[in-house]
Amino acid sequence: MLTIAVRAAREASRIITRNFNRIDRLTITDKGSNDFVSEVDRNAEAVIINILREKYPHHAILAEESGKHVGDDYQWIIDPLDGTTNFLHGFPQFAISIALKIKGRLEMGVVYDPISDEMFTASRGEGALLNDRKIRVSGRKSLEGALLGTGLPYRDFSFTDNYLGMLKDLMKDSAGVRRPGSAALDFAYLAAGRTDGFWELGLSEWDFAAGAVLVREAGGLVTDIGGGERFLDTGNVIAGNIKVHNAMLKRILPHLDDKLTA
Ligand code: IPD
Ligand code: CA
Ligand code: CA
Repeated sequence: MLTIAVRAAREASRIITRNFNRIDRLTITDKGSNDFVSEVDRNAEAVIINILREKYPHHAILAEESGKHVGDDYQWIIDPLDGTTNFLHGFPQFAISIALKIKGRLEMGVVYDPISDEMFTASRGEGALLNDRKIRVSGRKSLEGALLGTGLPYRDFSFTDNYLGMLKDLMKDSAGVRRPGSAALDFAYLAAGRTDGFWELGLSEWDFAAGAVLVREAGGLVTDIGGGERFLDTGNVIAGNIKVHNAMLKRILPHLDDKLTA
């Protein structure tokens, strides 16, 4: 199944890279405030779904642009282009993200960066790979010297004050904070030890389901923003190597309120 998911990601990447040089000619629609989508997102998603459906006609699918397709206990979770805003600006940081859940449990993740040709893959219990070489989360022992990734709110501003409190505390205790603009790649970079920790509020399942498998399989920890298990449902997430994760959680907890932990 991993081979098929990798093939689907590569096929979708052809559509994405072909269009990267002609962004000014794309039809772009706004799904909501600051939530853009182009025919590239839709066509890339259709290609992925066709490949998966051809092989696995009975599997269920949850895809960002076309929503839920019913099926059996196997569910593919697809973000055909994570980092659409970057893509539409010609900012070369975006990815294709495909995850597989079996009976509600995350089993497999593929994140592909077509610009750098980096294919991140992981299956539960088998470790995480970058272009077929094993990757591990960093060995950093505290926030001191740590490089953190995050996502700034840009659509839903209901938790902005909580978020800014977290940012203030984490930026002063770490070596720096980056906001590259693709959650899928943020998780992949964390899995590869390029960053030491990551947090964001308000993600959707397709943004980071695959990334969460990568980080876990690379030896890292992924939790919801309160340190619990419900990260996929809430979309509020902290991830890191275990020590950095715990240090981040300590700085984040004072900025939570009932709404964020509900
Ligand atoms: C977005 C990216 C971004 C994150 C947003 C996501 P999209 O996905 O992952 O990094 O901050 O919350 O929605 O819309 O480009 O697929
Ligand atoms: Ca996304
Ligand atoms: Ca997307």
